[in-house]
Amino acid sequence: MSVTKLITSNEAIALEDKYGAHNYHPLPVVLNRGEGVYVWDVEGKKYYDFLSAYSAVNQGHCHPKIVDAMHKQAQTLTLTSRAFHNDILGKYEAYAADYFNFDKLLPMNTGAEAVETALKLCRKWAYEVKGIAENEAQIVVCKNNFHGRTTTIISFSNDPVARKNFGPYTDGFIKVEYDDIDALEQVFESSTNIAGFLVEPIQGEAGVYVPSDDYLIKAKALCEKHNVLFIADEVQTGIARTGRLLATCGNCSCTKKDCSGTPDVKPDVLILGKALSGGAYPVSAVLANDDIMKVIRPGTHGSTFGGNPVGAAVAIAALEVVKEESLAENADRLGQIFRKEINSFIEESTITTQVRGRGLLNAIVINDDEDSDTAWNICLGLRDNGLLAKPTHGNIIRFAPPLVMNEEQLRECIAIIIKTLKEFE
Ligand SMILES: Cc1ncc(COP(=O)(O)O)c(C=O)c1O
Repeated sequence: MSVTKLITSNEAIALEDKYGAHNYHPLPVVLNRGEGVYVWDVEGKKYYDFLSAYSAVNQGHCHPKIVDAMHKQAQTLTLTSRAFHNDILGKYEAYAADYFNFDKLLPMNTGAEAVETALKLCRKWAYEVKGIAENEAQIVVCKNNFHGRTTTIISFSNDPVARKNFGPYTDGFIKVEYDDIDALEQVFESSTNIAGFLVEPIQGEAGVYVPSDDYLIKAKALCEKHNVLFIADEVQTGIARTGRLLATCGNCSCTKKDCSGTPDVKPDVLILGKALSGGAYPVSAVLANDDIMKVIRPGTHGSTFGGNPVGAAVAIAALEVVKEESLAENADRLGQIFRKEINSFIEESTITTQVRGRGLLNAIVINDDEDSDTAWNICLGLRDNGLLAKPTHGNIIRFAPPLVMNEEQLRECIAIIIKTLKEFE
């Protein structure tokens, strides 16, 4: 088949089914265009995107400034590798380091690579700075975490589907209950070999679990007490998604006093991905100060594409858009409207038991068993009514639209969601 020939949704799905590995279970909808908060399928039907490519498209689909930066850079220089310098990587590193208030940035491509980078950085710091005996370092992680798909990362997942038959697994991780500060303290007290604590400020994939307000603050204080690195995985929560520039809010761009985000916690190591590029290109990064990042020396870590000129240009533009368009403030304001309206519906509904989240990272819990297909069927109904969302786990549906949405659009989306949920009462 010619790759330029127009195809129907059914044909596109059949091709993926036959020639692609079956590592995803997509909603049956085939998209070929996106603009701002909207996407269109190949038959021309328009939808609100309420997933934003798992929070990568915070700046909206095909943002003109980001596409323009990508286009210009792609016509000039795309890849040098790190064997040579290029004239934009340093500018990007300086801009992003200043933006997030860290000394240094290590550029990578995907979220999982950035998590791997942070784990390596943490271990090396443990041996060369903290003084843990070689191969003895432990990193504490949370139950029900999601940090990506590499062999090491799935080694400390407790999702049986993500893990089964991918062993042998990587050692050196201790799991604690999420949002349980006593459990964390106990682990820290039990060993002097703890190098880091890796945490999602909100557990996104697990179903948008928001921890208690003081959890991150207390966890950071414990890390300081025990000389343990606080490693924040903000791949999904970062870049304005939760109504603040970062969910840990180390350098908040939001000036509102009544901001609903968690209070300030400055991570020792910050992991970013997804919306760092506005979803236009795979760009991820690890940020840390010199006292930690100094352990990385030539040959210790790298990636052919990490820090490439196109990624650097795209990331600068994507970060500029976040500030120029006040996306954190918009997400904070719209998120409050969203939860208020869905909560009013829940009071008179039996199909939904809870809405939770921060900013525009939210989820509703469907009143059915975890292994029922009600949430999936509701997502099919939402699709038919012009809105795309997907269950995270079983009976939980995540709602994460692009942050460039306006109030009128959000209210239309809320109406679609309520109308669809009523069809399942
Ligand atoms: C918190 C978190 N970390 C890491 C990742 C992995 O990112 P990627 O899929 O780009 O490897 C994800 C992806 O959803 C994520 O939500």
